[in-house]
Amino acid sequence: MLFGLNNHVGLLNTMTDIITMLGIESSCDDTAAAVVQRINGKAHILSSIVVGQEILHQAYGGVVPEIAARAHAEQLDIAVENAISQSGVKLKHVDAIAVTSGPGLIGGVVSGVMCAKGLSAGLNKPLIGVNHLVGHALTPRMTNSVPYPYLMLLVSGGHCQFLAVFSATEFKRIGGTIDDAPGEAFDKTAKLLGLGYPGGPLVEEKSKEGDPTRFNFPRPLLDRPDCNMSFSGLKTALRRARDLLVKEKGGISYQDQKDLCASFQMAVADTLAEKTNRAIEVFKEMTDSKYFAVAGGVAANSVIKQKLETISQKHNFTLFSPPLKYCTDNAAMIAWAGIERYSAGLIDDMTLAARPRWPIDQKAEPMLGSGKKGAKA
Ligand code: KG4
Ligand code: ZN
Repeated sequence: MLFGLNNHVGLLNTMTDIITMLGIESSCDDTAAAVVQRINGKAHILSSIVVGQEILHQAYGGVVPEIAARAHAEQLDIAVENAISQSGVKLKHVDAIAVTSGPGLIGGVVSGVMCAKGLSAGLNKPLIGVNHLVGHALTPRMTNSVPYPYLMLLVSGGHCQFLAVFSATEFKRIGGTIDDAPGEAFDKTAKLLGLGYPGGPLVEEKSKEGDPTRFNFPRPLLDRPDCNMSFSGLKTALRRARDLLVKEKGGISYQDQKDLCASFQMAVADTLAEKTNRAIEVFKEMTDSKYFAVAGGVAANSVIKQKLETISQKHNFTLFSPPLKYCTDNAAMIAWAGIERYSAGLIDDMTLAARPRWPIDQKAEPMLGSGKKGAKA
């Protein structure tokens, strides 16, 4: 079944420039559904439901794919129902259904795609598969109406890459992590120090009273001129420092814990800042745009955000950081990316497949790394 823009209610809405999209996201540990409307180019987020699974994964210090997939299958219908009822829009009046069809944990992605296919078939509405990373990358357009082109840093528990964003379908990867994503490193650090999960906010909190200069952790790959990054060595350095303290003193004090957190956080922030500096230089060679946007859970970190702000100012760039609830995984960003695809006539059919790996820049060389959410590339 292939839908065109001309054979349903979308025609009317296209003429008045109103598009209403249901978005579904289930690629990691959040089950999310949202309704977003674009009216004369501007986004209106009518509802955004996110059902987290933190409590289910807490004991393991990370996301367990099987547990995540089962929880998505149980929660998706409820999330969609809530998103629709909160939006005030009737399900029959949405123009199309957008769903994350990759990359991510395959069980969760399959659950979302099956749910969207069911709705699409039952309602006779177009189905739009969205790349999760594209969802993150287009978020600044939804929240801040940032025009193309712009430079983007995606930095979360599963992703870390610099992208030049030219349109909803054209992305050039300028660099990325070759191993762990920074959020993953924050989570592992928290686990090593017995702080809990998710680690980022806990490590940031501890860092506030810690000395960031006490431990001289590595700033990996800064000796290389490119925009690639590596964060797995940092985690190993932290473990060594912790083990040394345990050996010398028989354990680590609360102050040691805070100093370890602060030193680790500063190493991540310094690395991201210096690589951002280089990514901006590369981006300047491509375009005259002076827009830089950041998204992903790690963008919540105030020390990191401050450093990115300083680098942006140095280059006379404007930094956009969407509100945290749209920086982290959510379905509004998927609905918005769906709107951009729909208005470009990019619609899928029932052959839409769930993809565990799906690089955003198809022409770029694959990155070496692979993390808890699949390919970083
Ligand atoms: O974007 P997100 O919600 O999900 C992924 O796509 O991964 O990001 C979650 C990640 C987690 O690894 C979490 O520890 C990290 O973002 N994070 C932070 C902070 N808040 C969340 N990392 C550093 N500082 C924070 N304040
Ligand atoms: Zn994400």
